[in-house]
Amino acid sequence: MRNFHSILTLFFLSIFWPACTPPAETVVEQEVATPAPDYYQELYRPAYHFTPEQNWMNDPNGLVYFEGEYHLFYQYNPKGIRWGNMSWGHAVSQDLVHWEHLPIALNMEDDIMIFSGSAVVDHNNSSGLCQNDEACMIAIYTAHTDTLQNQAIAYSNDRGRSWTKYEGNPVLDENMKDFRDPKVFWQEEEEKWVMAVAVPQEQKIRFYSSQNLIKWEMLSEFGPQGFVDGIWECPDLFELQVAETGEKKWVLIVSYNTSNEGSAMQYFVGDFDGTTFTNDNTDDLVLTLDYGKDFYAGVTWNNTPEGDKLLIGWINNWQYGQDIPTQPWRSAQSLVRKLELHEFPEGTRLTQHPVEALQNIRGKRVHDENVQLQEGDNYLSLENIQGKQLEIIAEFEYQSIETKSDAEVLAGEFGVKVFKGEEQETAIGYDVATQSLFVDRTQSGDTSFHDSFANRTVALMPSDDGTVKIHIYVDHSVVEVFGEDGYVAMTNRIFPDPTKDGVEVYGVGGSVSLKSLDIWEIQSAWQPKTSSTEQPQ
Ligand code: FRU
Repeated sequence: MRNFHSILTLFFLSIFWPACTPPAETVVEQEVATPAPDYYQELYRPAYHFTPEQNWMNDPNGLVYFEGEYHLFYQYNPKGIRWGNMSWGHAVSQDLVHWEHLPIALNMEDDIMIFSGSAVVDHNNSSGLCQNDEACMIAIYTAHTDTLQNQAIAYSNDRGRSWTKYEGNPVLDENMKDFRDPKVFWQEEEEKWVMAVAVPQEQKIRFYSSQNLIKWEMLSEFGPQGFVDGIWECPDLFELQVAETGEKKWVLIVSYNTSNEGSAMQYFVGDFDGTTFTNDNTDDLVLTLDYGKDFYAGVTWNNTPEGDKLLIGWINNWQYGQDIPTQPWRSAQSLVRKLELHEFPEGTRLTQHPVEALQNIRGKRVHDENVQLQEGDNYLSLENIQGKQLEIIAEFEYQSIETKSDAEVLAGEFGVKVFKGEEQETAIGYDVATQSLFVDRTQSGDTSFHDSFANRTVALMPSDDGTVKIHIYVDHSVVEVFGEDGYVAMTNRIFPDPTKDGVEVYGVGGSVSLKSLDIWEIQSAWQPKTSSTEQPQ
């Protein structure tokens, strides 16, 4: 057994501070309120994931880019830390990393809750709701009562700062109790608005079209297919080019929720001809969007500058989500991920990469390469690293069955342990025998609030050349993992004792080397609150 800590400190510690001066045009006079010294410092509070200042949050809603700002609306309870009184909270960002909280955009009223939905930019005033015939923002949401769900709209003529519910609401009513989560987008080729909306209990997504966002006509239905043992919610439909062939495909993503296993997400790859979505794969194939226990209701931004498909998801699970031990807020949103379609031996699949702007908040870095992890209980103990806000990229190479000599044992398992301390660790690893990536949170800290929380999530991730790349983001109580350049995503929440924040690279049961390792401390994306009313130019 060897301890490589000293090697690391001697050779590989390098420190740099990225320049993060804001662009000149965003610096405007502003009144700065007295900073709260403990702002966003509570136990388990993520430092670079989005969380509301207080109260309950669930799905991301109304994702749209407009005039220099990415809008993030979200399911929000203004009055409590558990689900209820659903309204749309609101935040904006210019880089998808730093967010500014704004007042609630849509409040529940007259016992009608504002459930999940989307937002679009009505460039040509097709709705007639934009002032002076200029582009305005329209939100499309589910109006919910205990007996009826239908689709309604609201509009904003001041860049999302104030909203008016349309007086002719609802705009789409099928007299159904469960009919929700409209995702609307402009279909360029057909020159029409298209809505994907869930019929949860029937495991169906319905498609509607409109010329004006007000009058909707049904086009078709898709489902049940893929995972069908739960209710379907929060659909999204978009087109992407396959990187290798340039072919255009349509992707339909669907969240599903089960009473036993909780919440997860699947997607379908196929075609949409303006009326019908057809799945390229067999009805029973389930393509999983994120293999962790905590990624749900993920949807993409409309109207992005380069047409990028940018996804964000709710880091929680309906199975235990209302009992997680955080206060005065509950739930987080994932990092924003750019989606791509790639060809793999098994077919066309989505890959996910956190947005590049996250590199701007990288801080102190440790680098290492070509370290042989000896058979047995080997590790690198990175004691000089603060383990609560990290980005880790580790590439391993293990000896495959073909190359190993008789004397050697095939590597059993290797990976990275975070929040490591006495009787505590979260392991992010690779199991060679099953060719799978896993996150093990059985000893991750507080798991007491729900019987099912202490678990291990697993994803098949074949490695044909004996190398494995793992990209990990650690943020106090979030572990977001990407395997093999975004081929696998795995998001899990943990609630560790923050005083036990060690990081170890480990390999057990065989012969494995660490080809390269980069670890960055990540700076907080949250500034003390200002009373700024600044607007970007
Ligand atoms: C998904 C969901 C949506 C619904 C919203 C209510 O998490 O159940 O179907 O619109 O949450 O908050």
